[in-house]
Amino acid sequence: MDAKVLSSGIRYSDLPPSYVRPESDRPRLSEVSECENVPVIDLGCPDRSHIVQQISLACTHYGFFQVINHGVSKEAVERMLEVAHGFFGLPVEEKLKLYSDDPSKTTRLSTSFNVKKETVHNWRDYLRLHCYPLHKYVPEWPSNPPSFKEIVSRYCVEVRGLGYRLQELISESLGLEMDYIKNVLGEQGQHMAVNYYPLCPEPELTYGLPGHTDPNALTILLQDLQVAGLQVLKEGKWLAVNPHPDAFVINIGDQLQALSNGRYKSVWHRAIVNADKPRMSVASFLCPFDHALISPAKPLTEDECGAVYRDFTYAEYYSKFWSRNLDQQHCLELFKN
Ligand code: OGA
Ligand code: NI
Repeated sequence: MDAKVLSSGIRYSDLPPSYVRPESDRPRLSEVSECENVPVIDLGCPDRSHIVQQISLACTHYGFFQVINHGVSKEAVERMLEVAHGFFGLPVEEKLKLYSDDPSKTTRLSTSFNVKKETVHNWRDYLRLHCYPLHKYVPEWPSNPPSFKEIVSRYCVEVRGLGYRLQELISESLGLEMDYIKNVLGEQGQHMAVNYYPLCPEPELTYGLPGHTDPNALTILLQDLQVAGLQVLKEGKWLAVNPHPDAFVINIGDQLQALSNGRYKSVWHRAIVNADKPRMSVASFLCPFDHALISPAKPLTEDECGAVYRDFTYAEYYSKFWSRNLDQQHCLELFKN
């Protein structure tokens, strides 16, 4: 294979061997059922204490939930998806101008997860962007499609507002001050992964993304409305989270698991691929300030277990995360007391 990215227009009739998972590590799609009671939280509900209670239940039992009436405009969402399709539909030479497999680059098109470190590749291309502060990063973003910068900037601002609102609700749901999480995380970074999962000749043999937890604080995922692919692990079983119109999927990330002293779980999730349709998703990640000290909240350590995790900085965590393979043990395990 010469093409560095999968979205090069080549149609594969067989899965190239470097993508084939060993027998013991395949998605076993026929065993996956639909997650029937995905918590769907209506942020437009006038009763705040009801929302807080639903968040507490969802984060304790699932580690993820969906939100509707979330305040991000329909127009911003639709235009974001449109421009994402526009970008991946560009000629491959145009896209490859942005190609890099160096995770420290702040704007890059890449493929799989960590091409240099992994032994088996994943059936995914992704455009990864740093998004905060916008004035610092927008100049290096793609200028093709021509409307890309403007549309994605607007989307990022709206999603950031939603992220802050959710962090307040999550703080309250842990019995902490409303601005607790925001204060601990400092001036948060914001990253985006525009994930493109091309048609895959043998979806049973590979992943778009294998099971992983997100290393950041909070993830706001926009799923392709037409094509399913996200699955979460619940009580040892993989369950499909089918797209809900007008909803975002919210994941608790590793940092909120640490900060909540393990009360809230950073959910294991994965993306599977399809033989008949490509799939797009847009993940927005809120990340602590590099030097933010992540530490279990004091009021949550006052039982017999004490602090489950040691204190660490986000920079320390993030470099550990990218030095590994995606589907190893939970990176947070390495920070246990
Ligand atoms: C991610 C992720 C899931 C999806 O980008 O971290 O988990 O459905 N994406 O694309
Ligand atoms: Ni993820």
